[in-house]
Amino acid sequence: MDVMDAIIKRRSIRRFKPDPIPDEVLVELVNGARLSPTGANFQPLKFLVVKHPDRLAEVFSTLRWAAYVTPKRNPPEGHRPMGYIIILQDTRLKSYDVGMDVGLAAAAISFGAGKFGLGTCLIASADRDRLKEILHLPEHLTSKLVVALGAPDEDPVAEEMAAGAEDVRYWLDDDDRLHVPKRRLDELMIIDQPGV
Ligand SMILES: Cc1cc2nc3c(=O)[nH]c(=O)nc-3n(C[C@H](O)[C@H](O)[C@H](O)COP(=O)(O)O)c2cc1C
Repeated sequence: MDVMDAIIKRRSIRRFKPDPIPDEVLVELVNGARLSPTGANFQPLKFLVVKHPDRLAEVFSTLRWAAYVTPKRNPPEGHRPMGYIIILQDTRLKSYDVGMDVGLAAAAISFGAGKFGLGTCLIASADRDRLKEILHLPEHLTSKLVVALGAPDEDPVAEEMAAGAEDVRYWLDDDDRLHVPKRRLDELMIIDQPGV
């Protein structure tokens, strides 16, 4: 898939098929994250790959899904992520703007996943203390963002918001399809005009 297509077609996925994710794919995605932009080239992030079924279940239990439609988009048994890449900050290393670095690494993973037919959901609403315990993270590693991965088993659709509309809450239709409102390009894009 072409890069622009991967960006435009990507939607957060919260229902997955139970297909295993090959190790080579996980390695390639982490490699993309590793090579992403990072403030002052400090590279303060680490990437913890979770794929063992017991561990998948433990990590899942710390996550909160799709707040606007909860609990309807909590992935049910049999449709849960088949892997996680947990983005960690190594606090022993210097950082410039770690949140930016995390976002860019997460973007690389999310857009890269499209190449392998995988879907992702970025999850910030996690019980970080429990996650630290479950994963036996040493003191210097702090979890910043969880990227859930798997073959998509839903097909969410981006909806153009009406002009001036303000309701950004995603919603489920009668067929259980998720609709994700997106603000209009003409309301977001400002073209600089010299002299105006
Ligand atoms: C920083 C960040 C944190 C997020 N945290 C969660 C989360 O905790 N749970 C969840 O279900 N989705 C989470 N999401 C996914 C957003 O809900 C989703 O990106 C948004 O609704 C737009 O939908 P789209 O990704 O399909 O375009 C997060 C996204 C970002 C960028």
